[in-house]
Amino acid sequence: MEDMNGDEYIVIKAKAQGVQVIGLTRGQDTKFHHTEKLDKGEVLICQFTNHTSAIKIRGKATVLTKYGTVDTDDER
Ligand code: TRP
Repeated sequence: MEDMNGDEYIVIKAKAQGVQVIGLTRGQDTKFHHTEKLDKGEVLICQFTNHTSAIKIRGKATVLTKYGTVDTDDER
């Protein structure tokens, strides 16, 4: 199977204790397959893969991608 990550990484920085990064499976089914817990100040550098096509972030965090930076608590 071809790689789905395009060599891109994203960066997630926790701004509070107990931020959860939840990996969602690629394909027709969408299931949680992994939860990573970050404490305040911890940084996760990660790629999307053949297994993971989306992530969900619970809690206060800053997410840096090639599209820019977004905070989970941004309001508009
Ligand atoms: N299993 C879905 C998929 O691979 C996961 C997913 C990707 C998703 N993007 C999404 C689910 C957007 C909801 C909304 O397509």
